[in-house]
Amino acid sequence: MLQLRDSNGPATVIRRADYSAPAFWIDSVHLSFDLDPAKTRVLNKMTLRRNPDVPVQPLRLDGETLNLARVLVNGQGASFKLESGKLVLENLPLEGAFALEIFTTCEPLKNTSLSGLYVSNDSFFTQCEAEGFRRITYFLDRPDVMASYTVTLRADKQKYPVLLSNGNLVASGALEGTGNEGRHFATWVDPHKKPCYLFALVAGQLVCREQRIASRAGKAHLLQVYVRPGDMDKTEHAMNSLIHSVIWDEARFGLPLDLERFMIVATSDFNMGAMENKGLNIFNTKYVLANQSTATDADFSNIESVVGHEYFHNWTGNRITCRDWFQLSLKEGLTVFRDQEFSMDLCLEASARAVKRIEDVRVLRTAQFPEDAGPMAHPVRPDSYIEINNFYTVTIYEKGAEVVRMMQTLVGSLNDPTGRAGFAKGMTLYFARHDGSAVTCDDFAQAIADANPDSALSRLLPRFKRWYSQAGTPRLHAKGSYDAAAQTYTLHLNQTCAATPGQEAKEPFVIPVSLGLVSRSGADLPLQLRDGSASTSASHLLVVTQAEESITFINVAEEPVPSILRGFSAPVLLDFDYSDAQLMTLLAFDPDPFNRWEAGQRLALRCATALIAGEAILTGARPLNDDYVEAMRAVLRHPALDAAFKELVLTLPSETYIAEQLDVVDPQRIHAVREAMRAQLASALATDWQWAFEAHADNGAYRPDSLSAGRRALAGLALTQLCLAAQSSGDPSTGSGQAGVWPGKAYQRFKDADNMTDRLHALSALVNSGHELAKPALAQFHSLFKNEELVLDKWFALQAGSCDRGGQVLPAVRQLLKHPDFNLRNPNRARSVIFSYCSANPGAFHRLDAAGYVFWSERVLELDSINPQVAARLARALDRWSKLAEPYRSSARQAIERVADKANLSNDVREVVSRALAD
Ligand code: BES
Ligand code: ZN
Repeated sequence: MLQLRDSNGPATVIRRADYSAPAFWIDSVHLSFDLDPAKTRVLNKMTLRRNPDVPVQPLRLDGETLNLARVLVNGQGASFKLESGKLVLENLPLEGAFALEIFTTCEPLKNTSLSGLYVSNDSFFTQCEAEGFRRITYFLDRPDVMASYTVTLRADKQKYPVLLSNGNLVASGALEGTGNEGRHFATWVDPHKKPCYLFALVAGQLVCREQRIASRAGKAHLLQVYVRPGDMDKTEHAMNSLIHSVIWDEARFGLPLDLERFMIVATSDFNMGAMENKGLNIFNTKYVLANQSTATDADFSNIESVVGHEYFHNWTGNRITCRDWFQLSLKEGLTVFRDQEFSMDLCLEASARAVKRIEDVRVLRTAQFPEDAGPMAHPVRPDSYIEINNFYTVTIYEKGAEVVRMMQTLVGSLNDPTGRAGFAKGMTLYFARHDGSAVTCDDFAQAIADANPDSALSRLLPRFKRWYSQAGTPRLHAKGSYDAAAQTYTLHLNQTCAATPGQEAKEPFVIPVSLGLVSRSGADLPLQLRDGSASTSASHLLVVTQAEESITFINVAEEPVPSILRGFSAPVLLDFDYSDAQLMTLLAFDPDPFNRWEAGQRLALRCATALIAGEAILTGARPLNDDYVEAMRAVLRHPALDAAFKELVLTLPSETYIAEQLDVVDPQRIHAVREAMRAQLASALATDWQWAFEAHADNGAYRPDSLSAGRRALAGLALTQLCLAAQSSGDPSTGSGQAGVWPGKAYQRFKDADNMTDRLHALSALVNSGHELAKPALAQFHSLFKNEELVLDKWFALQAGSCDRGGQVLPAVRQLLKHPDFNLRNPNRARSVIFSYCSANPGAFHRLDAAGYVFWSERVLELDSINPQVAARLARALDRWSKLAEPYRSSARQAIERVADKANLSNDVREVVSRALAD
C-alpha cells in the first residue's frame, strides 16, 4: 500500500480570477464504507465524463491523508501518478461516460483535525466543508461538481447500531458471510444532486426524538434529532426550532422542505457551530442540547437561530450552491440574513425585534469592523486566499448579511417600504433561474435587481456591488445646518473608506441612510423635501451614492436633532458632531429604538475616550457626569420600556468596541476606565438596581421567550452591579448602607435558582466582583454539573473570562489547563478556557509583563499540531497588535514572530501570522 504524505511545498495562493470550469463532471458516486476507527476502508465507484467546454486534459483528483490501494478505469487496472497529493489519470476515454473505481483507507481515530472522517465519543462523524471530502476519498473536491450519491455503511452492529447518511434509507440489515459476524449495513440514496462538501455520514450509539409533520401541500416529512442516550431530555427545544424553521421558510419565502427525512445529529467534537449537510445536519452539541437547568436564555436563542440557519441552507446553499469558495457569502451572508429575519419574526413584540437588531449590530461592530480594519481585511467576495478555512469570517457572514439586508432595503417602494415583498420576489426569481446549480454573488444580486426593475437597487446595481469587491468599513461624515429664517434643515454627507491590504483607493459605496428629524419634545417631525415630495413615514430613506452630497428638508419648524442611520440601515461608521444635549434628546425620545440605544452608547463612549486620553487616576473617581447618570436612571426606571432594551442601554460599550475607536490602544487603561464607569453606575444607581432586581427577579415557571429572558437579563445585570457596589464600598459587612448584603443574596440565588440563566448570572456576579463567596460557589457548581460537559464549558469560560484584579487570571487559567476535565482536543473545551482568556478578556490578556502573549503563542503552536483550523482562529487574537501602545505592541509582535518562526506550521496558521506581520 502506498503511503502519501501531505505535500509540504510552499503554500499556494488561490485566486478568484483563475477560476476555470472543471475538466470532468462526476455524474454519480457509489461509496461503500467499512467503518473501523483504526482503519476504515472506502470504496468509491464513480461515473465521469469530460466537460466538453474545457480542453482535453488529464483528470486530477484531490486527496489528503489517504492510503491508496487500487484504481480501476472501466473495471481495468489503470496507470496513475501522484503529483503533489493529487491523483492524476491520463488517457481517459475521450467520449462518453466511464467508470472510475478507487479504493483507499483512512484512520478516523487519528484524525484530530475534525475535518474528513473522525471519531468522537466512539461514534463516527464527517465534516466535509470546505475541503474535507478529499480526506475521505479522491475526488473533484470543488462545489461546482454536483453528483448523485448512493452510500453503503458497514459496521459492527453492537458498537454502531445507528448508520446514517444523506437522503433516504433504501436497505439495511445484517451482513452475511465469514468475517461479517456481528456486522450490519445500511444503504442511503440521496435524491438530490449535491457538491461533495454536503456529504455526511454518522455511525454510533445514538437515540432520537422524532416528529412527523405535513407541509402546506400535504406532503409528509420525518424530522429527527439524534443525540447520545443520556441527552434525550435536552432535545425538545431543537425540535421545536426545526419545526418553526420549516413553517417560516414556507410562509415568508414560499420555500418548502424538499426531503422526506430531515435529520440533525449532535456531536461534542466539532470545529464550528453546525453544518448543513443535505438532509443530515451535523451540529455542535452546544447548538442542540438545552433544558432549563443546563442552558441559558442565550443558549436557547442561539439554538433557535443555528437550527434555522442550517435548515435555511437547504435552499440557500444546497439547492443553489457556490460556484467556487470565493462566492462563500452567496450562501453564508444570505443565510445569516435569513436566520436573523427568522429570529426577528419569531419575536412577538416589536421591541423584541429591535433588541435582536441591536444584538446583531453589536456583533458586527465588535467583531467585523475590527476585522475590516486589520490585517485580515478582505472583501465580502475575496479575491484570493491561501487556506479557505480562514475565510469563514465575520466579514463573509455578518457583513455579507448586511449587504443582503441593504438589497432588501433598496428594493423597497411606497407600497412596500421595508422591501420585504420586493426581496421575496427577487428570491423567487433567483430560484427560478438557478435552482440546482452552482452560481456567483453576481447571479444573486442580478436576480434581486431584475425582479425589481424600478427599484434603486436596479438603478444602482454596478455601484452597489462595490460592497462585494471593496474591503473596509466606509465612514460617513455628516453635518447638519438649520436655517431658522427659511425653516430648512440641510444635512451634508461625505464618505471615505480607509485603505485595506491590496486596496489603496476606494470608489464611493451606495449607502442607504434611513433618517428622521426629532423635535426638542421628542416627536418625529414631518419630512418634506424641496422637490415637493413628502415622506409618508417618519423616516426618509436617503440613498447616498456620491463621495459628497446633501439633502434639504423644508418647513422644519424648529431646529431638529437628526436621527441618522436608523435601524443601522448600512454597515458604516457614522460621524456626527452631536452635542451632549442632542444625544440626551435621542436617548430619551428617539422613536427609532436602535438610535435611542446608540445615543446612550455614544454618550458613554465619549466619556470613556475623554478619560482614557486624560491623566486622571481612576480609583475612587466619579468619571460619569450627573446628566448621564440621571439619564441612565431614567431608562432603568422607565415605565414603558421593556427589560431587554433597558439591559442593552445600561450595558457600557465593550472594551473591544472602545479600543476600535482609538488610534493607539492601551488595554489596561481602557479596562480601568470602563471598570471605573461601571463602579460609578453601580453605586450611584444602587437603589435603582435594587428595585430592578426585585421587580424582575421572579418570572414564574421558566420559559425562554424573549420577554421573560429580557427580565432575567436585567435582573442579572442588576445583581452584578449590586455585588460590584458591595465590593467597591469596602468591607462587605460594614459596606455603605445595604450594599454588603448583596453578595450573600447572590450566593443564595446561585443555590436556589431553578434555571441556568439565573444561576450563572449569580455565579458570575460573585466571581466578577472578586467576592470570597465565589470560591465555594465555583466548587459547588462544578460538583453539581460534573457530568454535563456543556455546563463545564461555562464553568471554565467564566473563570478564564473573569475580571482581572492584580493579574490573578493568567495563573488561574494555567491551572485550569491542568484540571482533569480540561482537554485540548475538544474544541469547545479549548475555546472555553483559551479563547475566553485570549480573545474575550482583554483586561487580563494584555499584561505589561507580556505573559498573556507568551501563553497565546504556546497554545497556538500546541493546538496547531492537533487542529489547525482551531489554532488559526486562536492565532487571530492578536490581529490588532499594531494598534497597541508600547510596551504591548512590541511584545505582541515578538509573540507573533515566535509563532511564525516555527517550521512546519499549518497553512492555516501560517496565513494568519504572515498577514499579521505584514501589517
Ligand atoms: N456551513 C457552515 C459550517 C461550516 C463552516 C463548516 C466552515 C465547515 C467550515 C454553517 O452553515 C455555518 O455557517 N455555521 C455557523 C453558525 C451559523 C448560525 C452562522 C458556525 O458554525 O459558526
Ligand atoms: Zn452557514
